[in-house]
Amino acid sequence: MKNNCIDAGREGCPCALAESGNCLVCGRLSGGSCEDCSWQGTCIYTLYEQNERRLIKSRREQTLSVEEVRVYSENFYVFVLRADRGFCQKAQTAGAYVFVRPAAADQWYGMPVSVLKSEPDKGLIHLGICRCGPKSSGIFKEREQLSVRGVYYNALSGLSELKDNAEETVIFAKGIALAPLRNLLDGGSRYRRKLSHLHMYVDIDKVGMDFFLDYFGDLPAGAVQIRQFAREGLCGADELRRLGRRAENGAADNILVLASPYYVRRVQKTAGSKAVRPTEGSMCCGEGICGACTYSDEKGNTVRRCRLRV
Ligand code: FES
Repeated sequence: MKNNCIDAGREGCPCALAESGNCLVCGRLSGGSCEDCSWQGTCIYTLYEQNERRLIKSRREQTLSVEEVRVYSENFYVFVLRADRGFCQKAQTAGAYVFVRPAAADQWYGMPVSVLKSEPDKGLIHLGICRCGPKSSGIFKEREQLSVRGVYYNALSGLSELKDNAEETVIFAKGIALAPLRNLLDGGSRYRRKLSHLHMYVDIDKVGMDFFLDYFGDLPAGAVQIRQFAREGLCGADELRRLGRRAENGAADNILVLASPYYVRRVQKTAGSKAVRPTEGSMCCGEGICGACTYSDEKGNTVRRCRLRV
């Protein structure tokens, strides 16, 4: 099935990939015919024709004022930005992320940052940023305003794997990779009901307890275990074995690994199933243009991770 573009049918579709003959959904906009298309939304080819065969530009950069900077450590800040209600509503979507840079910096300083929290009623979005290179170091100096482009939606892979009314939900999370969880909790019953009977193992080494309590203090304390993954392991060996046994017996569990690919691979191997996980690849443009996030599949096709919904 071809209809696997995260942005299909969203504002901004048809995009630059349609214009270049690389639409991930529409047969006619990728050198084929309607027979190659199984998209059930509004016809993307018709939209493209109606827009006089031009892409629809929707994600323009905007300068947002910084309402507050929460300094949790020398290398980890949360920026709280003022934004309009519509933008905040879009930002309160599972897997939402934006590109951020200092307003005076060149465009290629834009850094992909998961939306940590969005408050449409207050007109605020929260972005947690760890200092890790020239892009983040530039942002750390800003106190007045930041340039923001978005909202993009493919920060998480595997959301379609989540089962309704899971028997158990097991979450492994490390550092600021934890950020997208807030949107899953705040995004209404659609995801909340998939996070039932929660067991959570979290490594807060780089973000700290104050941050965890500020943003995830509403999680039931009995369900959360704080650990240092590198020193103590993801969870007890018994627990990992128990997860594996449950998977073998076909238990309907939901597993989220909000950590690096190293930990994702370890958990998926044990559980024998796909987890919800950060989308791999370096996001640079988010539009399917720059190639930073791409790889070639077994047939030699270029796969754009920023656009492919998996
Ligand atoms: S981030 Fe540029 S092509 Fe995916």
